[in-house]
Amino acid sequence: MTAPVQALFQPFRLGNLELPTRVVMAPMTRSFSPGGVPNAQVVEYYRRRAAAGVGLIVTEGTTVGHKASNGYPHVPRFHGADALAGWQQVVDAVHAEGGKIVPQLWHVGNVRKLGTEPDASVPGYGPSEKVKDGNVVVHGMTKADIDEVIAAFAQAARDAKAIGMDGVEIHGAHGYLIDQFFWAGSNQRSDEYGGDLAQRSRFAIELIQAVRAAVGPDFPIIFRFSQWKQQDYTARLVQTPEELGAFLKLLSEAGVDIFHCSTRRFWEPEFEGSDLNLAGWTRQLTGKPTITVGSVGLDGEFLQFMVNTDKVAEPASLENLLERLNKQEFDLVAVGRALLVDPDWAVKVRDNREQDILPFSREALKQLV
Ligand SMILES: Cc1cc2nc3c(=O)[nH]c(=O)nc-3n(C[C@H](O)[C@H](O)[C@H](O)COP(=O)(O)O)c2cc1C
Repeated sequence: MTAPVQALFQPFRLGNLELPTRVVMAPMTRSFSPGGVPNAQVVEYYRRRAAAGVGLIVTEGTTVGHKASNGYPHVPRFHGADALAGWQQVVDAVHAEGGKIVPQLWHVGNVRKLGTEPDASVPGYGPSEKVKDGNVVVHGMTKADIDEVIAAFAQAARDAKAIGMDGVEIHGAHGYLIDQFFWAGSNQRSDEYGGDLAQRSRFAIELIQAVRAAVGPDFPIIFRFSQWKQQDYTARLVQTPEELGAFLKLLSEAGVDIFHCSTRRFWEPEFEGSDLNLAGWTRQLTGKPTITVGSVGLDGEFLQFMVNTDKVAEPASLENLLERLNKQEFDLVAVGRALLVDPDWAVKVRDNREQDILPFSREALKQLV
C-alpha cells in the first residue's frame, strides 16, 4: 500500500469534539431492539467498535418521539425513559473505550406502512397525501404536524445531550421524511414548504434551527444527505456545483457543523469535469468538515445486498480512499458493512492485517457481533 494508512488514524478536532481516529461507523439499522429499547447485546455491539479503532459511532437510525416516525420492527426509539436508559448504557460503554458516539435521529415519513409498530392504525406521514383504494396510506402533513415533528427532533437532541452523547446526526437522506421534503418527486406542496429546492428545504432548515436552539452553540450537529433515494437510485436533488452550493448554504447557515455525504461508491465523481466526490464538493463549497461513505473496503455497493442475494462483497484496496483523504478532499470516512461484519476492521487496517479482514454477505445481518 503506497498511500499511508496512518491518515485514517489521525485525531480529528472540531470545537469540543475530539475524535481519536478518522474512522466513522456508518449508521446501520439492525432491528435488534425489541420494544424499541437498546439492550445489553446492542451495548456490546457498539462497545466493540469503539474499542477497536472507530473514532466516531453514528448509531443506527433511532426514531424521534412522533407517532409516525418508525417504519420497521425492533428499531430503537430515541424517546421514552426505557429507551433513553438503554442508550445511556451504550454511551457509557463507548466512552469507557475512549470512543465517541452520536445518535442518528430518524423519521421515516411516507415510507411507514399501516400495521407498523407502535400503533398499527397510524399511516405514513409525508409532505403530500397518498390515497390507495379509498384509504389514506400517507397523511399529508399540516403545519401543526410539521411543528410537532420539528419539536420531536429538538427534544431528541436535548435528550442526546442530557445522556452524554457527543452530538447528533440528523437523517436527511435516502428518501426518508426530511429528504421527502427536499425531493420534488415526493413534495408536491403548494404552501411555503413546497416549490423550488430552497422552498422544499424550509422544513429541514426550521428543523436544524430548532435542534440548534435546543442544544446550544457547542454541541455538534451532523447532517446526512444524499442525492439518491431508496425510491429511485438515480434521483438527484442538484445537477451542478452551483446548485449544490446554494442548497448547502441554507443548511449550513441553519446550524450544521459536519455534512455526512451519502453515496453508494465514494470514488464516483459527483459532477463532470472534476474527480471530487460529493463529500469533496461539499467540503469545498461550505468550508465545513465532511464525512465520505460508500463501499469503503469492499468490492460491491450496499443496495445490491439489501435484496435477496448470495453475493459476497470481498475486501477491496483502500488506495484511492487514502489518496483522497491525504489530499483532504474530506475529513472523515464512514464505513458500513465492513464494520457490521467485522468489529475489528479498523485495527486490522491500521496494523496491516488485510488478510484477516472478513468479507460481507447478507448472513452478517442475521446477528449482532
Ligand atoms: C444493514 C444496513 C442498514 C442501514 N441503515 C441505515 C440507517 O439506519 N441510516 C442511514 O442513514 N443509512 C443506513 N444504511 C446505509 C449505510 O449507512 C451506508 O451509507 C451504506 O451501507 C454504504 O456504506 P458501505 O458501503 O460501507 O456499507 C444502512 C446500510 C446497511 C447495510
